[in-house]
Amino acid sequence: MKPLFKGKHFITLEEWTKPEIDKLLEVSVALKHKFLTNEPTPYLTNKTAFLMFFEQSTRTRNSMEAGIAHLGGHGTFLDTSMMQISHGESAKDTATILSSYGHGIACRNCFWEVGNKYLRELAANSTVPIMNLQCDLYHPMQGLADLMTIKEVYGEKKHIKVSIIWAYATSHKKPISVPLTQILLFPRYAMDVTLAYPEGYDLPVWAIEKAKQNALENGGSFKITHNMEEAFKDADVVIPKNWGSWVNNQSSAVVDDLLESYKGWKCTEEMIALASPDVKYMHALPADRGNEVEDSVIDGPHSIVYQEAENRLHTAKAVMAMTMGDK
Ligand code: CP
Repeated sequence: MKPLFKGKHFITLEEWTKPEIDKLLEVSVALKHKFLTNEPTPYLTNKTAFLMFFEQSTRTRNSMEAGIAHLGGHGTFLDTSMMQISHGESAKDTATILSSYGHGIACRNCFWEVGNKYLRELAANSTVPIMNLQCDLYHPMQGLADLMTIKEVYGEKKHIKVSIIWAYATSHKKPISVPLTQILLFPRYAMDVTLAYPEGYDLPVWAIEKAKQNALENGGSFKITHNMEEAFKDADVVIPKNWGSWVNNQSSAVVDDLLESYKGWKCTEEMIALASPDVKYMHALPADRGNEVEDSVIDGPHSIVYQEAENRLHTAKAVMAMTMGDK
């Protein structure tokens, strides 16, 4: 397997062309097949990736750690609270040193108005690819796995109606990076994307403008509604998920009056009944069960959340193999 994108940073899919993303998807599919048939995939033998986490993770950490092991390399998990970062060491020094020890640096830093800037500073000072494991703006690993999953279900069908719908949750004030990534990416694949949210949960204006432009240039469409039922109606894919009111309110408080006024924004069986009969329910996980979604939906016949989560492994491996490999 040729590492076609050796050294290329993976910070946002906006910096990857469609043919490049298509190649990542093709490699993800091949790696999934090899994993399921127990074929060896020694594309990163003796390679090391440093996996820096400022926040908690289940899927991202383990898809990266397991993924690089499957590829013959080693992933070093770094809890940043145990690094000299916690004593103020700069991103520049961290990136310079780690890139002299290994072949890739991956990082999750979701702090609002900090995370993406931190990744950019790592990238400016690294001699190896920087992989974004979720920042305040983007979650490209999730976006790629979501796209792979939708393609597994719908193939190359155009104009599928995909609704990205805000949902009530109290678990934590979640980043906007998942819906932001999805509204930018899906219109590039000729999907008809609806973004639905109650007043106060806006995404940045620049991202909305870019989503519209991506739709225009690629034969998709993009619209916004503040009516939840409208978003569910006739949808082929629904992605009801919470995100925080970061754009309008930078407080890290999880529960406030605004949030509590939108308890009704939940994915229920009644909402699913409005959608296409074969609608697929997706969620990046972790889900706030009982708040964002009823158990009977997430555990029901429309749900493809475990397929979506599994694809995080295969897409993570594709990104690492194509940016870090040298065979
Ligand atoms: N979807 C996702 O990124 O999951 P984790 O937070 O568990 O990594």
